[in-house]
Amino acid sequence: MHVLLFSLFIVNVPVNASELRLIETGPGQRAWMTEQEIDALATARHSGRSAGFMDVTDFADVSDDIPYFQLKNVFENKAPSQQRIVDELLPELSGQNFWESIEVLSAFHNRYYKSESGLAAANWIADQFTRLAEGRTDVTVELVQHGFPQPSVVATIQGRGPKANERIVLGGHSDSTSSGGGLPATRRAPGADDNASGIATLLEVFRVLAQSGFQPDRTIEFIAYAAEEVGLLGSQAIVRAHKTQNIPVIAVMQLDMTSYPGSNPRLTLISDYVNPDLNRFTEALIDTYLKVPRQQAPCGYGCSDHASWTRSGYPAVFPFEAPLGQDNAYIHSAYDTIDKLDMAFGMHFVKLGLAFAIETSLGEK
Ligand code: BES
Ligand code: ZN
Repeated sequence: MHVLLFSLFIVNVPVNASELRLIETGPGQRAWMTEQEIDALATARHSGRSAGFMDVTDFADVSDDIPYFQLKNVFENKAPSQQRIVDELLPELSGQNFWESIEVLSAFHNRYYKSESGLAAANWIADQFTRLAEGRTDVTVELVQHGFPQPSVVATIQGRGPKANERIVLGGHSDSTSSGGGLPATRRAPGADDNASGIATLLEVFRVLAQSGFQPDRTIEFIAYAAEEVGLLGSQAIVRAHKTQNIPVIAVMQLDMTSYPGSNPRLTLISDYVNPDLNRFTEALIDTYLKVPRQQAPCGYGCSDHASWTRSGYPAVFPFEAPLGQDNAYIHSAYDTIDKLDMAFGMHFVKLGLAFAIETSLGEK
């Protein structure tokens, strides 16, 4: 009886409801907030009042000192140079595989960082990487544990030769969230566009690279970050691990919301908190391999995991579905479902991801 009363008490009064977190809403702008205030901040953004944020409670010391290895600036004036391989592998990409991953991921009740289903979704992603890499001894799949139930997932294709210690990252967040009544951990949050679409992109690019026998010079990491929606927690931890180990990360691509075409479909490169040289190179990849209309647009402070890399001095890009205001209005609700999405539009990002992985992981420079 005592046990029952005790557990009822826990359910009614979440133990960490009063725990304050340090939230950064812009360079040098920080405030201590409760979980409810952070939830309200995330909701406010999408009515145009905020511009993203980072939970820097455990990352207050991060500096953007440019790592020494980045000074050589690999992408300044670089043009695409791996057309034979990219053109050979592009036709291998499957829209159906891409779509099926979005279906499975959005069928989890939610992928919230503190929920059972958020943990199960991360495990499912890890299982897919493992299955797709069957027979390859140069691939590892790792769960990175944080201080909450959902782990990040890192699938690594080992590079060969003198550049093997350098790394390329393709990443997106695995978690989903939804505003509204009740506890965020129990709300329905399909997150089909935000961000099953980005994870499905990673899985399909990885499948073609792994199954074609592609061997990179630089090591490639495919990362499904945990807990982006609550302040970029997974990506900040992963970036810190790379920086602490002095790992030369040469290029990062963030994939978050790729498949809602809106009324005027255009591949949009986010223009703030990204690396301008890598952005120009990514434009060249679009023009060479996709030949579709493109544009640039700002996102605002820390709107996705690319900001964690940029903040620590690493070069990142973020190709996105639309300029702000024309993006998917159903995100962070129970209505972010696959029926609003367009497979053919989403496949542009899968192709771009494949071209980026090949072009940045091979080459003279
Ligand atoms: N996928 C969104 C980012 C986004 C949404 C970019 C709409 C452009 C348009 C991401 O998952 C997100 O919701 N980010 C939060 C910030 C995060 C730190 C809580 C945001 O933008 O409010
Ligand atoms: Zn979101």
